[in-house]
Formats: sequence, C-alpha cells, structure tokens
Amino acid sequence: MLAGKRILLIIGGGIAAFKSLDLIRRLRDQGATVTPVLTKAAEEFVTPLSVSALAAEKVYRDLFDLTDEAEMGHIELSRAADLVVVAPATADLMAKMAGGHANDLASTLLMATDKRVLIAPSMNVRMWEHPATQRNLATLTGDGVLVVGPDEGAMACGEFGPGRMAEVPQIIDAVGAALADGPLKGRHVIVTSGPTHEPIDPVRYIANRSSGAQGTALARALAGLGAHVTFVTGPADMPPPAGVKVVRVQTARQMLEAVQGALPADAAVFAAAVADWRVANAADSKMKKTKTGLPVLEFAENPDILATVSQMETGRPGLVVGFAAETDDVIAHATAKRDRKGCDWIVANDVSPETGIMGGSENAVTLISDAGADSWPRMGKDQVANRIAQLIAEALA
Ligand code: CTP
Repeated sequence: MLAGKRILLIIGGGIAAFKSLDLIRRLRDQGATVTPVLTKAAEEFVTPLSVSALAAEKVYRDLFDLTDEAEMGHIELSRAADLVVVAPATADLMAKMAGGHANDLASTLLMATDKRVLIAPSMNVRMWEHPATQRNLATLTGDGVLVVGPDEGAMACGEFGPGRMAEVPQIIDAVGAALADGPLKGRHVIVTSGPTHEPIDPVRYIANRSSGAQGTALARALAGLGAHVTFVTGPADMPPPAGVKVVRVQTARQMLEAVQGALPADAAVFAAAVADWRVANAADSKMKKTKTGLPVLEFAENPDILATVSQMETGRPGLVVGFAAETDDVIAHATAKRDRKGCDWIVANDVSPETGIMGGSENAVTLISDAGADSWPRMGKDQVANRIAQLIAEALA
C-alpha cells in the first residue's frame, strides 16, 4: 500500500515513543522507507540505535551535526519525503509547530517542509485539554496539518481521558489516506458538516440535532479517494476525520464565508444542517429576566450557502451536491429543492423521528440528479459516504 513512499518520521519525547518503534516496522512492512528523526527528549525514551536498526536508516538527531548537514541538509531532508509524520506529537512539539519555531532539527524540518504533515498527538489528558494545546491544535488544523487521535483511555500517568497516542494501525490508515493515489488525487472538494449555532446572547444559542456524522463520513471517504478536502464544520459531536483541512465555524454566515474562502473547488458537498434563521435582535450581553415580560426574538433569514454556490456565475465548482432533510413527501420536496437551489445532485433523506436517522448511524437516501431519483437501501452513514464519494470520483473523471 505504501510501496515506494518515503516517510520522514519525527519521534517526539513522550512515553508513546515506544509505539513508534512498531510504527516504523509496520510502515516498512507496507513498503515505505522511513527516515527517522529523534528530538533530544525522545532519546530519553528510545535509543537512536534501536530506531536506526528498525528503520535500517541513519537516525537524524541534531540540527548542528556537521556531518548530517554535509550529507543531507535539513531542507533537503524534509523535501525528499512524501509525507512527514510526527509520532508522538507532544504538547511542546505542537506548540513549536503552531508558533513556527525552528530551534532544533525536528522543528526546523517541520518549518522547511512543503509536504503534508500528519501528527499523532500524545500527552497527559490535562495537557491535551489545556486551552493552549487546543488553541495550537486549531492553528495546526487550520494550517492543513493532518491529525490522527488521540484516543481516550487509561494513561501511563494513571489518569483517564483523551491523550493516548492513536494505535499503530490507525496511524497507518491515516498515512495511507494522506498519501492516497486515488481517483480524486489532485481534486479539491469542500464539505460542509454539522449544525450551526446562532447566538441569542453571548451564552445562549439556537441549534439543531445534527451530529455531523454524515458530513464527517463523507469527508473521510473523499480524502480516502485522494481528494484534498476542506472540511467546514459547525460545532459537531464528533472529531473531524484525519487527512482533511478543517475550518471550524459557529454560524451560517461564518460557514458561507469559510466556503467562499475555500473556493475554487472541483466539487462541493453541503451536508451541514444550516440554521435557516438567525436571531436578528441577538443581545451583546446576557439577557436577564425582567418584570416587564418575556423576551421576544426576531429572526432574519440566513444566507443559503448551497444556493449561493450553486448559482455562482463564475468559479462555480464543477459538481455541487446538496442534502435534503425532509419529513414527508421526501422525493417530491427534494426534487423541488434541487430545482430551486440549482445544485447538480441532491441526496434526500427522511428525518422523521421514527427513522432514527438524525443523530443515528444509518441513513436511507435517494440520490436525485438529471438521471432521476435513485433510492438506496438503508445502510450505514459510512457506506452512504463511500458510495457518494465513488460517484463524485466518476463524475469528475
Ligand atoms: N443549506 C445551506 N444553507 C442554508 C440552508 C441549507 O447550504 N442556509 C443546504 C444544506 O446544507 C443542505 C440543503 O441546503 O445541503 C438543504 O437543506 P434543508 O435544511 O433540507 O433545506 P432548507 O433550505 O432548509 O429548505 P426547507 O426549509 O424548504 O426544508
């Protein structure tokens, strides 16, 4: 699967560094060549000798090692790779990356590379949840850095929670997705996902029950076929998939702006459950109970992102796909919606409460296109996503 690929593996100084030894072995089993780089701290956890023996390659350790510089300068080292993997990515390494530091070999390589970077964070749960780490994570994903994990579980320090480095097979999958030579290689696809939150005041908002499951599955499937995916997501229940560029938004207007900022694209898939209305008289400070009566909310219509993009006169993506969440007369309403909004395909689904689709793991959809309405049997949201991604690949071929 990874035959002929060269991976620059930066091993950070964390207890999970021992898993990176297995990662090297598995990457090589898949046919990849691994060039290992150890940070100073990593050498406290694994020895250069064991890393080098497993990789069957020289281990790069120090920026100012003159022999290294003469053999292969750090710029060349980072350019020769097809993918840069940081595992474990410690809180400190993430902070350096987010801040653009270049004060040792690992951080300099990360600054000098023009290749995709995949990180597998690993740290104590409190360090992971610390606002600084979360801020750095948001910066990194915004920069297009791919993230796998961390997992939740018992940690070496005796605590429990998210922070454990993803398991090796999961990292291998993310490497595969990042390097995928699929039919969508070189294509840019925008996916919107999740609900939007429309503020009432600084602490209250209007939302909906969308979990983001279908959009997340779609983004994962498209990335799996090699697409460069920009994933514009509202506050969803689940983490975004590995291998995509994540843009986080709260409101419909922010989502429109993010989509417009991500254009041009070969295709755009609008799976988000966008709030149709926002509160026009949202308060700037927290609304208080008063004796004079109940608050009255006034609404304004939100921009329709799908319709706006579908009706672009210049720079419209070649294929625009919308979703239609309906509770009755699904096909008729969805067909009318497709005509009204001007998208190429609409994926219609019945979200009546008895179907359990909204927020559930399955979906029963009908794909409406120029070719008519094609109803698929009920299947997992992942399978729906894979099928849509395949059809998108065929349409763009
Ligand atoms: N959509 C959008 N922007 C909006 C509203 C909806 O991009 N402001 C997109 C959704 O992402 C989805 C499609 O439009 O792809 C249909 O969403 P849906 O909620 O089913 O339709 P509505 O526009 O709300 O239409 P209606 O009120 O008639 O159901």
